[in-house]
Amino acid sequence: MKIQGKPYQTIWVHPTNSSIIQIIDQRWLPHKFVIEDISSCHEMGVAIKDMHLRGAPCIGAAAAYGMYLAALEAPENGFQTYLKEQSDYLNQTRPTAVDLGNAITAVSKKLVGCPNKKTAVEICLNFAKEACAESVEHCRLIGVHGLEIIKKIHADKPDQPVNILTHCNAGWLATVDHGTATSPIYAAHNAGIPVHVWVDETRPRNQGARITAFELLEHGVPHTVIPDNVGGHLMQHGMVDMVIVGSDRTTRSGDVANKIGTYLKALAAKDNEVPFYVALPHSSFDFTIRDGVKEIPIEKRGAKEVSYIQGKTKSGEILEVLLTPEDSPSMNYAFDVTPAHLVSGIITERGICAANEAAILALFPEYQ
Ligand code: MRU
Repeated sequence: MKIQGKPYQTIWVHPTNSSIIQIIDQRWLPHKFVIEDISSCHEMGVAIKDMHLRGAPCIGAAAAYGMYLAALEAPENGFQTYLKEQSDYLNQTRPTAVDLGNAITAVSKKLVGCPNKKTAVEICLNFAKEACAESVEHCRLIGVHGLEIIKKIHADKPDQPVNILTHCNAGWLATVDHGTATSPIYAAHNAGIPVHVWVDETRPRNQGARITAFELLEHGVPHTVIPDNVGGHLMQHGMVDMVIVGSDRTTRSGDVANKIGTYLKALAAKDNEVPFYVALPHSSFDFTIRDGVKEIPIEKRGAKEVSYIQGKTKSGEILEVLLTPEDSPSMNYAFDVTPAHLVSGIITERGICAANEAAILALFPEYQ
């Protein structure tokens, strides 16, 4: 996608120094556009954990490049042990986004029997590049399939924009490119279908207000940022035609973990008969589990993310300020699980399916 007319992805190899990975450091968006150089596996782990980059597919790509950096810095003797240690380190950085574990498992399989460090470096770099290219294509295809749903809604109300509500940021900055939930939105906008996006601010880290709004603005998509509590009211008044969200981990039976607050939107959507779609590439499925509420690990983040809020002062400084009484405890579950029965459909790179095991496995028969 483009920023100020210049095309970017979220992560890439430094053009003149292949031992450096560059990322868009999302902590400062929308107020500052910063590119960060990452030179070690440890630094990549910090970037994932402290959310310099975030969003499940983007985290998966970062983990893949983290393994490449680990291979570069591994000792010649004992490189396999070093790679295993670093994969364990990366694996624990963000527990809910399954793309991370899926990427590490896939590259680790390719490293089995690898004869030397030089080959390990090649395997990891090729894997990271291919995984990123595949992820971009999958997200593009999610847009192609999701566009059909938006077209149908538009056909029923040709003179008005299609109003879509989204939560958190499942846009191109949460992936390598295109986004998941936003991919059909960009596809519709590019096809000339009038869309308008209700952007949940998404407390506590405000990925909607900061990042989704930034993306949509850069792409020229009409949107309105709303406090997290407004969606239900808008739905009751016919102001939302559909909800599309992303996912950090979806089970083989269609239970969806996504940013905290998604479940409440799904309940409101059900009560108001608003279609609730989840868009995800197959890297965000966890085919090993069924019961999302019982089995998906929910990341608990620092309480400070709730009690402090970041913004730009009139003089242009980016500051964090205390929101709550100094002595009030706060709590920060980062994700919740929306049970499959609240999901109208799952938009994947292979097409759209119902949120149940038979329908999901019909699209992904290799996981039967
Ligand atoms: O904590 P974050 O910002 O990594 O959470 C991101 C989300 O919840 C996204 O909706 C999800 O990763 C889907 S990304 C395309």
